[in-house]
Amino acid sequence: MALESFPESTLPSPTPDAAATSVRRPPPVAGAAFGEDWWQRGVVYQVYPRSFADSTGDGVGDLPGLIEHLDHLNDGTSRSLGVDAIWLSPIYPSPGLDVGYDVSDHAAIDPLFGTLDDFDRLIAEAHRRGIRVILDLVMNHTSSAHPWFGESRSNRSGPRADWYIWRDPPPGFRGRRPRPNNWVSFFGGPAWTWDPVRGQFYLHTFLPEQPDLNWRNPEVREAMLGIVRGWLERGVDGFRLDVFNAFFKHPELRSNPRRVLGRRAYDRQRHSYDKDQPEMHDFLTEFRSVVDAGGGRMTVGELFATEARRAGSYAADRHLVFDFHLIEQSWRADSFAAATAEREAIFGRDRWPTVVLSNHDQSRHASRLSGGRRDDAVVKAAAVLLLTLRGTPFLYYGEEIGLRDVPIPRAEIVDPPARRGGAISRRISPWWNRDQARAPMPWGEGANGGFSPHRPWLRMAPDASIRNVAAQSVDPASALSLYRRLIWLRREHPALQTGGYRQIAASKDVFGYLRLGREETLLVAVNFADAAGWVRLDGHPRAGGWSPLVGTHAPIGPGRGAGERVALRPNEAIVFAAT
Ligand code: NOJ
Repeated sequence: MALESFPESTLPSPTPDAAATSVRRPPPVAGAAFGEDWWQRGVVYQVYPRSFADSTGDGVGDLPGLIEHLDHLNDGTSRSLGVDAIWLSPIYPSPGLDVGYDVSDHAAIDPLFGTLDDFDRLIAEAHRRGIRVILDLVMNHTSSAHPWFGESRSNRSGPRADWYIWRDPPPGFRGRRPRPNNWVSFFGGPAWTWDPVRGQFYLHTFLPEQPDLNWRNPEVREAMLGIVRGWLERGVDGFRLDVFNAFFKHPELRSNPRRVLGRRAYDRQRHSYDKDQPEMHDFLTEFRSVVDAGGGRMTVGELFATEARRAGSYAADRHLVFDFHLIEQSWRADSFAAATAEREAIFGRDRWPTVVLSNHDQSRHASRLSGGRRDDAVVKAAAVLLLTLRGTPFLYYGEEIGLRDVPIPRAEIVDPPARRGGAISRRISPWWNRDQARAPMPWGEGANGGFSPHRPWLRMAPDASIRNVAAQSVDPASALSLYRRLIWLRREHPALQTGGYRQIAASKDVFGYLRLGREETLLVAVNFADAAGWVRLDGHPRAGGWSPLVGTHAPIGPGRGAGERVALRPNEAIVFAAT
């Protein structure tokens, strides 16, 4: 089926709401490849700061370490990846019980990572290289060590009494206190914990040490927007919103309806009342007016759910929303083609999708899709999809060298829900240990792959001495070399950035599609099979022929005629331009 195609998209350019706030307009980012539409045309790279580069020798990555390695991300030449933005997983002070997603001060830097001066230097050094900086905002909850929670629990009539979601047990009970409703925590166990200090239950969608804020309290909203303005003033270019569709709960906190099926208790409820409440749309508008006051900023919401349809309902101009539909696909051409068709239908002309294969919560796609094989054939074919499908690509650090999940012995597990499950595999625990996808980045030779002279906070990949940035940099056939070629190709071809999409082939093994720009058409063919396949270079009436631009296998082969049947080697992917 050929999907309806549409020409190179032109989403409206940003229209800052001047009345909204008084945030200073930031200076343009020198050397950036794109202007204010970078959120749509550019490539974003997720840095997990703990695991990226350690400059202090304590075994934990930090901001100066990241600064030292910015040239890997973009030094202005095709010897670097050439990404347009980095998203940093949380760098705020935190007891670390959810490895940084339990924030105890949203306006400061955890000393583990450095200082505010280091942060300012990061912004300056990143901007100097044309790299924008996106911070992770964790606003659904705080750490229980946050002073706001301390005040809220200790004084029922104090100024922060109503900043969290506190409830008495239902009246008239005898014996054990019943909880206010049936909600469960995503990490396991009930979503309500009794606080003996305040003598009430409080709500936590995640760990008991991550109490949910009360977003129905305007003071909470103002406090958070103040923090947002503060980071914008410091020069950040955007935010990733952690579990944003969970901020608002139903005002009556009704019990959720039950579902029969589901692996975890959380999945055995319909989340009708603890997320996706209508008030979120108004808040997003308010939030966007603050962010847009400076121009050239973007936000990306992490949908606390996986469905593309729900993600599409929240996506807006300059506000992307992750849907994890592609992450859920198995390595088959027809699965990826069908998921892409569905996303195209949902996002359509006016909403802009993201393209994501890995992140800090999921099994790395090099492991997930490669089925245990150690070569990078699947990694490379997947890179072609990631960087040529319609949408803003988000890379996860290490995927550019085909980093795999690293098995962690039970005694070394850090991830809280996995520790609770006490398990290391999906088969025996309802929770997969996310540490496996957070291994320190192997940079080169030397102690701990050049990550740190000290024992790293998580173990290194066992193949770090051969699978690392230095080794792959000098190997033209490496995954890293291909990622570089693809990202720089994207930069040169507007059709790959904002062009329309039309599927031309979708068998079990081969997925083919066009990217349609105003002045050029590109054709992408990906063979998912371990056997040879073929694709017909078709679907574009005006193409006289097709010239190959980038491919996963060498040699890439000569130009081909229009309508020609092209053989693809096992797992081969090729990007052609119409001539
Ligand atoms: C989503 C984040 O991606 C995840 O790492 C975290 O544990 C939860 N939100 C809670 O903040």
